[in-house]
Amino acid sequence: MILIAPSILSANFAHLAEDIQRVERAGADWLHIDVMDGHFVPNLTIGPLVVRDIKKETGLLLDVHLMIEKPENLIPAFIASGADLITVHAETCPHLHRTLTMIREAGRQAGVSLNPSTPVAMVENVIGEVDLILAMTVNPGFGGQKFIPSVLPKISALRSMIYRSGSAARLQVDGGINVETGKLAVDHGADVLVAGSFIFGAPDIGQAIRDLKNVDD
Ligand code: DX5
Ligand code: ZN
Repeated sequence: MILIAPSILSANFAHLAEDIQRVERAGADWLHIDVMDGHFVPNLTIGPLVVRDIKKETGLLLDVHLMIEKPENLIPAFIASGADLITVHAETCPHLHRTLTMIREAGRQAGVSLNPSTPVAMVENVIGEVDLILAMTVNPGFGGQKFIPSVLPKISALRSMIYRSGSAARLQVDGGINVETGKLAVDHGADVLVAGSFIFGAPDIGQAIRDLKNVDD
């Protein structure tokens, strides 16, 4: 089953609870929360205090995408804030195995993300420690960017790696996802679609979520 994770980066932050409840009512599976530090990526968003308050407003699984340097310093705070799934970037983690283990030992799901230019080999030796692999389909930092099609073979390679290892990890894509690019990603093996501008910018949010869920029909 394909899961849909709306990214709140494209929500109205002055009316965040309202926007979150709108996507929840419209059939979203997870809520994707983009955390940016102005260092690893050239943009700044939210921290654990906001995640803590989001947790009180929704029953959706909180999928927290950490685009920050030294994520291990803040992981305990995100765990305390109620994050269900915490994804770190391989590029930020010299001790990736330790960082993923830290998340799992706290009873949360652990994910690892790769920028478009980062090779799949970066996750090969931690495949047994992850619940999710995130293949970025844009360079992280901003919503509303264009999908990078050269990531598609990497999605296939990650899917094969997951199968070969016997892992039950999900394969998520994030960036520039709409019905057309979502279908391409799913055809190459993705099973969780993150979408920000496509969902929050749609005239009918429910229809946008249903259209994404059905791209493999
Ligand atoms: C980009 C973020 C994405 C972003 C996607 O760095 O990780 O989650 O919100 O936005 P769209 O779907 O508009 O490309
Ligand atoms: Zn994201």
